Amino acid sequence: MATNRTFTMIKPDAVQDNHIGGILQMIEEGGFRIVSLKKVQLTAERAGQFYEVHKERPFYGDLVKYMSSGPIVAAILEKDNAVADFRTLIGATNPAQAADGTIRKKYAKSIEANAVHGSDSDDNAQIEGDFYFAADEQF
Ligand code: TYD
Repeated sequence: MATNRTFTMIKPDAVQDNHIGGILQMIEEGGFRIVSLKKVQLTAERAGQFYEVHKERPFYGDLVKYMSSGPIVAAILEKDNAVADFRTLIGATNPAQAADGTIRKKYAKSIEANAVHGSDSDDNAQIEGDFYFAADEQF
């Protein structure tokens, strides 16, 4: 089951700009089933925990500040080959390099404010989903 799931966040800029519905529509039309869904305001501490793997990177401080600057929408998604297919649907990290038809091409503003997160492995999908959702919220 877990191998067919991934985790996403709609980031503060896209929530602020009223793109929750548009992004969820692209996700559902891309063949993903929404397993779990919630709107959350992260503290800087929680955002720092979520991105802990990046803590030595130069952009970490700004990323934590940005991700705690306004509410985000967190979701667990299900589909065959979910992690890889979702990375394809969201497009490149830098929207200047994102392919046509991807979520980041349509909604991302910059490499930091890039509209959505997508897990990069099955293990991280499980860890990230569990970061936001209790077992009785994943169905
Ligand atoms: P990364 O895991 O490399 O990208 P992706 O989200 O496509 O898996 O980076 C995580 C987030 O960190 C990325 O979505 C936005 C931010 N980031 C920056 O702000 N500046 C950068 O130069 C990079 C590489 C990432």
